[in-house]
Amino acid sequence: MSNFLELCLRRQSCRSFSDQPVEHDKLAQCVEAGRLAPSGCNAQPWSFVVAETPAVVAEVAKCGQQMNMNPFLSKAQAFIIVLEEHAVLAPAIRKLLDSQYFAKGDLGAATVQICLEAAEQGLGTCIIGVYDREKICELLDIPVTKQFGALIAVGYPADGKIRPKIRKSTDEVLRFV
Ligand SMILES: Cc1cc2nc3c(=O)[nH]c(=O)nc-3n(C[C@H](O)[C@H](O)[C@H](O)COP(=O)(O)O)c2cc1C
Repeated sequence: MSNFLELCLRRQSCRSFSDQPVEHDKLAQCVEAGRLAPSGCNAQPWSFVVAETPAVVAEVAKCGQQMNMNPFLSKAQAFIIVLEEHAVLAPAIRKLLDSQYFAKGDLGAATVQICLEAAEQGLGTCIIGVYDREKICELLDIPVTKQFGALIAVGYPADGKIRPKIRKSTDEVLRFV
């Protein structure tokens, strides 16, 4: 087990994957980390679909390459899709908030746990923001009404270089009172 902050520095968006296939068990372990994420009322408003069959992976990659974006996806070895499911909130909360009120945050938590577990296993990931959701649904037999929390490309990084993090300074974002 790595030092956690060191793992946070090591997790980076990978935009250069090697040809090495990713083991099925490692993908399952990444999803397990996502499944263990916290969620509002412990509603766990998620499910996961993993594309690992090379022909399917190639088709999903094309869905994330609209307008020539994300050319590196051609070498992704797998995709993990985090799907938004209906959240059953605690009765007292249900009176106050819409069922999906916490869901976006919950899906983000699951997504980052997946990416951190992948980094822990030496895998690279890149969360993809723009993609043809409907086409992916068609390819993977997902109901077309289903919203995505994340599309995550996975593969072994082509090189081991860790980039320095570009982030707002601590002073800019933190205030103790
Ligand atoms: C919701 C979301 C969408 C993103 N979409 C893309 C994308 O389409 N292509 C890409 O190369 N990176 C994408 N990224 C990666 C971000 O650019 C990256 O997380 C950010 O620049 C910080 O860099 P780091 O992940 O290497 O620390 C996305 C990240 C998030 C969280």
